[in-house]
Order: sequence, then structure tokens, then C-alpha cells
Amino acid sequence: MTLIAPAKVNLTLEVLQKRPDGYHEIRSVLQAVSLCDRLSFKPNDKIIFECDSPLWQAEKSLVGRVVEAIKRHTGVSNGVLIQITKGIPLSSGLGGDSSDAAAILQGLNQLWELGIPPGELAGIAGTLGSDVTFFLSGGTALAEGRGEFISPLPEMLPVWIVLLMPHLERPEFKTGAMYSRLSPQHFTSGDRTEALIARLTRGESIRSNYLYNIFESVAFKAFNGLEKYRDGFQNIAGEPVHLAGAGPALFALFSDAEKAARVWRNLKERGLETYLTETQNSIRM
Ligand code: C5P
Repeated sequence: MTLIAPAKVNLTLEVLQKRPDGYHEIRSVLQAVSLCDRLSFKPNDKIIFECDSPLWQAEKSLVGRVVEAIKRHTGVSNGVLIQITKGIPLSSGLGGDSSDAAAILQGLNQLWELGIPPGELAGIAGTLGSDVTFFLSGGTALAEGRGEFISPLPEMLPVWIVLLMPHLERPEFKTGAMYSRLSPQHFTSGDRTEALIARLTRGESIRSNYLYNIFESVAFKAFNGLEKYRDGFQNIAGEPVHLAGAGPALFALFSDAEKAARVWRNLKERGLETYLTETQNSIRM
């Protein structure tokens, strides 16, 4: 059995407030894209993870915790060989590890014939990481709470997305480090997310000026050298460039496939790590 685990971009990411439990209350519109990891599942006596990326480490990933959570939830103690072919760059803000975790939840539910209903899978996903629940369904969705409360939205009209992965040092525990850079001056009401949802609901196209990500206010200090990547990308794209999630990946939207391909080729010819991808509708559940 092989499952696809898509990447995502946040079309909006607003932080409303800091919560007493230390997490931040967010409102974010998430969009799955066609760039993906592939996970194959094979029966095995032990639990083994393999990955084609030399930088990937099981102990730094959520994957081991997913299997533990399923075992705790169901009491099963089967083995499995999970082979991960990485298409999504590691620690980029594109959600690769959370997406792999969601695919493993769904994959083991099928492979081990556990019959865990979608609502319960979502409950387990929410305990693993704030972004995991979204990837159970993908598509276009609103994330609230820590990010674990997901409501599907009308699918976004298809666009091309050029991604650029800057080769920059990332802080340890990057997501937590990025949230800790935010202060009350960065908190917003959720209005920008509402405006985007209104456009999606009316079936209107989503242009760059409707996108918003509060981490852009702190990312250029957190990732030394990011500004140069952003400015260079913006010059080549002739379009606004946005931060993906907590970064440092950057992206630009294109309605014109030819233009997107031209920008992607231009970045590639400069030796940069870049991906040409498109919005992807809801795939699983
Ligand atoms: O949920 P996840 O494990 O991905 O979060 C990593 C860290 O990011 C958390 O430990 C927390 O410090 C921070 N975080 C937050 N508010 C959120 C999501 C994450 O403060 N909504």
C-alpha cells in the first residue's frame, strides 16, 4: 500500500492570542499542494522506518509517536515497515512531517484493519501536532484552536505555486521558536482570514493581496539571509512572495502555468532549490 502525503501552504495565518497553556490561538486557511512525500506500508514483524533522505531522522520526526499513539489507542502491537520517499523539504514550513504523520495514521488504520472512525483519527492527530489533523483531509480548510480544529472550505480555484527553499540555518524547535518571537502587537482579530473565506465562498480567485502570514513580521530576523532570497525571488517572479507557515520556504501564486514554469526554471538555473506545484483538492477520508 502506498499513500501520498501532500505539502501545504498557509494562505492566511493569524494569531489571535497567547493561551494560558502556552500555545497560541490561531485562525489560518490552509491549502494542500501537489508537492508530496510518498509512504509505502509493508507488513513486518518489527516497526521499522526507512527514508531516502539522509538528513531525515526518525527520532526528530513525529512518525514514531504516531505508531505509539495508535498502539495506546487500540492495544494492537503489530509490526510494519514504512518507507518514506521525501519530496517535501525538511523543516521548511510546508508541513511535511505532519503530513507524513497523518498518512501513517490512515495507513495503519487500513493495514491493521483497526476501523478507527474519522472523528477518532482526528482526535489522535490533534494530540500529535497542531498541523496533523488538516492532513487527514487536505484540500482547502480553516484551522482554529492550536490549529487542530479543521473545517473544510470550498476548494480554491486552481493556481500554480512556485516554492523556493532557502538554504539557511533554522533555529532548533523551529515552530516553537517562531511563536515565541510573537508579542501582543502581532495579534489580530481573524478578519483577514474571514475576508479570504468570503472570497472562497463566493468562488472568486485568490490573489496575493488576500494572503497574510504573521510570521512574516518576525521571520526575516529569525532566518538570517531570508530577505535576500525573498527580494531575489520577488524580482524574478514579478509577484509578491510569501512565507510558508513558520518558514523558511517562500512561495508565489500564479494563475498562468507558463509564467509559473518560467519563474521556476529561472530559479532552477540559478542553482536554487525550487519546486513547481499546484493547489490540490481534498484527497482522503
Ligand atoms: O503543535 P506543534 O508540536 O507543531 O507545536 C510546536 C510548538 O509550537 C509548540 O510547542 C508551541 O510552542 C508552538 N505552538 C504555539 N501555538 C500553536 C502551535 C504551536 O505556540 N498554535
